[in-house]
Amino acid sequence: MAIQRLVEPITDDGDANEQIIEVTLRPQNFKEYIGQERLKKNLQLAIAAAKKRGEPIDHVLLYGPPGLGKTTMAGVIANEMSVGFRVTAGPAIERAGDLASILTNLQDGDILFIDVIHRLSRAVEEILYSAMEDYKLDIVIGKGPAARSVRLDLPRFTVIGATTRTGSLAAPLRDRFGHIHRLEFYQPADIQKIIERAAKILETKIDETSAEILSQRSRQTPRIANRLLKRVRDYADVNGDGIIDEKVTAQALTMLEVDELGLDPADRGLLSAIYENYRDRPVGLSTIAALTGDEVNTIEDHLEPYLLQIGFIERTPRGRKITPRAVRHLGGENNE
Ligand SMILES: Nc1ncnc2c1ncn2[C@@H]1O[C@H](COP(=O)(O)OP(=O)(O)OP(=O)(O)O)[C@@H](O)[C@H]1O
Ligand SMILES: [Mg+2]
Repeated sequence: MAIQRLVEPITDDGDANEQIIEVTLRPQNFKEYIGQERLKKNLQLAIAAAKKRGEPIDHVLLYGPPGLGKTTMAGVIANEMSVGFRVTAGPAIERAGDLASILTNLQDGDILFIDVIHRLSRAVEEILYSAMEDYKLDIVIGKGPAARSVRLDLPRFTVIGATTRTGSLAAPLRDRFGHIHRLEFYQPADIQKIIERAAKILETKIDETSAEILSQRSRQTPRIANRLLKRVRDYADVNGDGIIDEKVTAQALTMLEVDELGLDPADRGLLSAIYENYRDRPVGLSTIAALTGDEVNTIEDHLEPYLLQIGFIERTPRGRKITPRAVRHLGGENNE
């Protein structure tokens, strides 16, 4: 099993209190949703057009690394359309019947959010195609020679799918989406705004420089920004007067072992493992996983995207390669 990391962009589902904070920090509308300007512009246009015609918006597929705001955006779309929001996930819809019961319970105009949509089973996917395409549900009643197929009308609904990998999505399913958008890593200035907004909601004082420092260490990811802020806030509450200033920020970050690029021991461990064993030669993902003790999925979804983004790792046809920049970063640390 992978180690639970501070900067791991998955939700803290263990702690009820953390979950409540997560809900209160989540933007509800386009105004509160910071950054992703191109995505917002496209969706705002689609929503305005749909409202004008009195129709649901076309199906939306959101993809990109964890923690960038896919689930949040799905909720924002539902709020902005003022329609019902039903949430499910690929692995939760096991059989065709599960999907049939979800679909037949939708209201006209509802949004059905399917998280981790690349993990739908083939059988379920096929039913979803025709449901998305012409709002019909084909079900088979009975068994053997007496079996007959029935076609049901469904309400006009919108699927919003979210995935960290479009590559794993079957082409026919992908083709059913009218809007396909990739979420980008955030600009540091936007992350700083997200931190300042979250601090306000959490009623924590943070000075501008500290917010800026945290924004540079948040791996360009809102979920990590919020999480770092919460950890530094804990530190300030216990070791000071609860105010986040530069001194508290520096001490907390040292304690958390998050370096100036936002990398933590797991990232540095991954880079050193490749470098020590393979230098700058390409190495396969499963070999890396064996070296670090992580799962291949963890590396692909959680560790690698940001390391690729900052040019520390390259993808080659023969595997992953560590770049001279990354080697310099590691070297700088070893010399300390
Ligand atoms: N644009 C944004 N502005 C402000 N806060 C944001 C924004 N996007 C995301 N967040 C914050 O980051 C947290 C994580 O976002 P979200 O859960 O939507 O990510 P995700 O892309 O669905 O991740 P995953 O792939 O792990 O499901 C949210 O709870 C929210 O508080
Ligand atoms: Mg999500």
